[in-house]
Amino acid sequence: MNERKLIFAANWKMNHGAAEAQAFAEKFLALTSPADGRSLWFFPPAVSIAALTAAMKGRPDVTVGAQNVHWEPKGAYTGGISIPMVMEAGARLTLVGHSERRHLFGETDEQVGRKTRAALAAGITPLVCVGETLSERDGGRTEQVIVRQIGAVLGVLDAQAWHKVVLAYEPVWAIGTGKNATPDDAAQIHELIRMQLGRRGVSFHVPVLYGGSVNAGNVASLLTRPQLDGVLVGGASLDPAGWSDVIVRGSQAKVRPSGGWDVSSELGAGSQEDLP
Ligand code: 13P
Repeated sequence: MNERKLIFAANWKMNHGAAEAQAFAEKFLALTSPADGRSLWFFPPAVSIAALTAAMKGRPDVTVGAQNVHWEPKGAYTGGISIPMVMEAGARLTLVGHSERRHLFGETDEQVGRKTRAALAAGITPLVCVGETLSERDGGRTEQVIVRQIGAVLGVLDAQAWHKVVLAYEPVWAIGTGKNATPDDAAQIHELIRMQLGRRGVSFHVPVLYGGSVNAGNVASLLTRPQLDGVLVGGASLDPAGWSDVIVRGSQAKVRPSGGWDVSSELGAGSQEDLP
């Protein structure tokens, strides 16, 4: 993570088996070219990682990841998938603590911490997700929840280890609902996250993506906020033409002079440490 790249991450959730993933890749590759300063990340179901990795070979701007991993490398964990296994299939990233894992499958802050640490130890980039539910938001507890979730990861990592971590702010009430956070609201939480990291001795720029009902219509306005380093997208990433459209529109987002970047001209020039 030496360059400040704009990240477009597709979380396919439980969609697209291996054959569909390959068909997606063929269409998608014909529609998008690599661009400086832009990384395209895909999180297919585990059974599709190998097929998608093979189909995307030759595209250095594309990286494939897992949606979930176990913290143990192997053992009696029926249904579990380990980090070495997804790496063998081609994954170089993994989501950790997605809200659907937390809320539908009971994943705890403690488990999120363990998975993050295990991913880093194995040499795979963790994309750690945090976000409040609607009732937490309505109850005025957004900050408290974010601070707690980030704190659980801060508690198990050295400050230096954050060089390899990427975060995503995904408010649960915005996921799959068509109700995205406003660019200002998202930017504010991203600042809160960075403040928390700074307080605990993380002195460099950790990329923070926004996720929750991002689509072709709102991606550019979200990405005009310099606090956002990219987007993590579910529904709008499932169709190759639609996802390509999101990427093109998002890439055109211009940045304000206060510290973000203009994708078309500046990206790739600086390092994360150059950010304010
Ligand atoms: P949607 O883009 O479908 O709201 O999903 C967001 C998400 O959960 C990405 O991880």
